[in-house]
Amino acid sequence: METPEEQLATLFRLRERALQGGGPERVAQQHARGKLTARERLALLLDPNSFQEIGALASSPLGDEDQRVPGDGIVTGFGKINGRRVAVFAQDFTVMGGSFSAVQANKICRMQDLAIESGIPIIGLNDSGGARIQEGVRSLAAYGEVFVRNVMASGVVPQISAILGPCAGGAVYSPALTDFVIMSESTGYMFLTGPDVIKAVSGRELSTQELGGAAVHCVRSGVAHLSAADDRAVIELIKRLLSYLPQNNNEDPPQIMPYDRADRIEPALNSLVPADERQGYDIHTLINLICDYDSFLEIQPLFAPNAVVGFARLDGYAVGIVANQPAVMAGALDIDASDKIARFVRICDAFNIPLITFVDTPGFLPGVEQEYGGVIRHGAKIIYAYSEATVPKISVVVRKAIGGAYVAMSSKQLRCDLNFAWPSAQIAVMGAEGAVRILRREELRTAENPAQLMEQFIADYRRRYFNPYHAADLGQIDEVIEPAETRPRLIRALEILRTKVQQNPPRKHGLYPS
Ligand code: HXC
Repeated sequence: METPEEQLATLFRLRERALQGGGPERVAQQHARGKLTARERLALLLDPNSFQEIGALASSPLGDEDQRVPGDGIVTGFGKINGRRVAVFAQDFTVMGGSFSAVQANKICRMQDLAIESGIPIIGLNDSGGARIQEGVRSLAAYGEVFVRNVMASGVVPQISAILGPCAGGAVYSPALTDFVIMSESTGYMFLTGPDVIKAVSGRELSTQELGGAAVHCVRSGVAHLSAADDRAVIELIKRLLSYLPQNNNEDPPQIMPYDRADRIEPALNSLVPADERQGYDIHTLINLICDYDSFLEIQPLFAPNAVVGFARLDGYAVGIVANQPAVMAGALDIDASDKIARFVRICDAFNIPLITFVDTPGFLPGVEQEYGGVIRHGAKIIYAYSEATVPKISVVVRKAIGGAYVAMSSKQLRCDLNFAWPSAQIAVMGAEGAVRILRREELRTAENPAQLMEQFIADYRRRYFNPYHAADLGQIDEVIEPAETRPRLIRALEILRTKVQQNPPRKHGLYPS
């Protein structure tokens, strides 16, 4: 029989073994790669002394005895971030390359189940060589266990994935099923098939970063939503992102008192929109002048920059901002911008975050590539997402709201609660030139000086239709407001809508156009 002292000594020895991960040599290698260890990352992420580890001593029954490491290459548990509870897991690359085993899966699934039941966000720090090869189909099946829980947690608790090292093969689907993917620009990469396979299949030689680094997924593919320089910066970004999100779908995001007054008037807004409608301007200026000081966190800033989405605060309350960006492609909506907007609207709706939409778009981008690429079904996602959303919705037509894009971008008919417009708003079925060519075809064909007549017709069309007053007459716009007063107007509107209750008809689920 062991004495109590001996029993404790065994526990401390095992605990110490678990804390060492893959041992000093591999920890040194991890640092040399510019990466922190799983435990160092969690120490940065969580409030001091808040971490409660679960499954520290679980180890794989498979493989060589001397390769068994308590924890099996993953650290899981609960902790707090700025006093709010979270469930976390961090893969430990120092243990068999963080490779994914059945034991790892059990530990992650346990956290997912508890987090869903307790209504707390799940944060995963990924750094793994993928399915543990020695475990064969066991580790493949184990991925399935995690995936199904990712789906069950979707829209129930926020899920955030950080990619801090490799994330390859089918392993990428767990992050892809979560709400936000944040990549380390120096060490993170994601792909289904690695550079070797790509070379064998196509002859193309690419580095891991060229194939699946942050620059690829934040700019081109749209797989990742944010990136930061390294582990530390990614961890800070996770904390910031979390501050806009509620604990679960039954709660509201926390209110964070602003530095600036709710009734702040911003005269600069009155001259922000250039008189020449062909001239762009940066929608970020508008967002930053209206929202609480320094509160805008842009999501997917580099993907489809012709649309801008992100979280901000108005009088301390979290809001989702959706805007067209007139400085890029005149703010036209294309396939990627549609996907970006629609997904963001759904995230806000799932997590009780009111939506503020700033509209300045000439419409959906015309073009053969766009049509062949399915801009119809992608654009339909925006309409679907806004129509389905039951959170408070407010829109401000800043300048152009033309054609289908007017309807899609949070119009009254898509159940927008309050529609404002600036005096610079242009709400029309189509652009002036196209409209005049159709409406005045005969007169232009027979005119002595068609160019001059065309100009006259265009000016007339603009006078008649390129203003917000026609829409205000018809009740499509609730109020034409002075740009300078947009902030207090939005804050007061949100105050009214805070207790909004709206329900969709019961159904198993809608058939989202995808
Ligand atoms: C077991 C693994 C492993 C794996 C790495 N290791 N990946 N062990 N299973 N999947 C081990 C290595 O053998 C090595 O152990 C240690 O981890 C560190 O790996 P290195 O290769 O030295 O590190 P590095 O040079 O940085 O390369 C990292 C890597 C490479 C690019 C991730 O390890 C690699 O290519 N691994 C295999 C990736 C892969 O193809 N995985 C399967 C994907 S398919 P020692 O003891 O030698 O130091 C998949 C299917 C999922 O995941 C399907 C879900 C539906």
